[in-house]
Amino acid sequence: MSTPASKVLDRVLVLEMVRVTEAAAIAASALVGRGDEKAADHAAVEAMRKAFDDLEIDGTVVIGEGERDEAPMLYIGEKVGGAVGAGPKIDIALDPLEGTTITAKAGPNALAVLACAEAGNLLNAPDVYMDKLAVGPGYPDGIIDLAKSPSENVRAVAAAKGVEPGEIIVCVLDRPRHAELIAELRSLGCGVVLIGDGDVAGVIAVTNPETTIDLYMGQGGAPEGVLAAAALRCVGGQFNGRLVFRNEDERQRARKWGIEDLNKIYTRDELAKGDCIFAATGVTDGSLLKGVKRLKGHVMTTDSVVMRASSGTVRWVRGEHRK
Ligand code: FBP
Repeated sequence: MSTPASKVLDRVLVLEMVRVTEAAAIAASALVGRGDEKAADHAAVEAMRKAFDDLEIDGTVVIGEGERDEAPMLYIGEKVGGAVGAGPKIDIALDPLEGTTITAKAGPNALAVLACAEAGNLLNAPDVYMDKLAVGPGYPDGIIDLAKSPSENVRAVAAAKGVEPGEIIVCVLDRPRHAELIAELRSLGCGVVLIGDGDVAGVIAVTNPETTIDLYMGQGGAPEGVLAAAALRCVGGQFNGRLVFRNEDERQRARKWGIEDLNKIYTRDELAKGDCIFAATGVTDGSLLKGVKRLKGHVMTTDSVVMRASSGTVRWVRGEHRK
């Protein structure tokens, strides 16, 4: 009889997942600041794909590099792992290089990232945009609500925190589409932390008091939304996400993945259910992790985090790698 997936999540996957994100981050780090987004992404994808072969799982990529006809590796639906057909069935959401532009320009917060859970527990999100709203742990359930305006959400969080709305700090992706949102937040007096890219780290920043960021708001990639929700499921914090469709083709793709209600607001636990694991390794220095450092004598250091929902355990893993 094969081992139940829950036991494998227990015994094997938690630390093994870090090996996978480390491999992708190390590969991408050779291309930091080289101005070539595609090459950096390709290196990370190839290394992550190879690292999966060493895991005794029957893995299925549910969020990956795109659909089969557009991505040669780690495409949605691809089977990965060294025990396909025999091992425990695990769904995997991954982004071998979250922040391709960041990496090409040597900016902050590029990550190699993945989340995994027993089959059926991660939303199979199409590669469209998602409206995102996140707050850190310690607030009453339902304090944020994507159906409400940004001002209403800021006021609710400010009241619960015991501060004025103008003392709330909100992280937003720096994009023209967010001009109105930013103006509304500034009219309340909020501090707006604008990030160039990398909203997985942006969302997770709400869980870290050192960042001083209270809320995350705005539109980014839906796959990144599921990854961030999985992380918040492990460390606490609330998340709301709503898919954003720009045309009929995107709507069709969502329906193909079994999404019926296209206007649904997903809570954190509807995006990532059950016991899940979230792992990330820094490619460049950022608010969550340090980047890969290439030292003298072919030594490299990596900085990773791996979290698990069922236990709430968060492990910070510093690796030293010798070629
Ligand atoms: P890539 O790694 O694919 O470049 O994504 C970076 C990112 O900033 C994500 O973190 C974010 O969700 C998305 O791009 C936002 O998309 P856009 O650049 O189209 O606004």
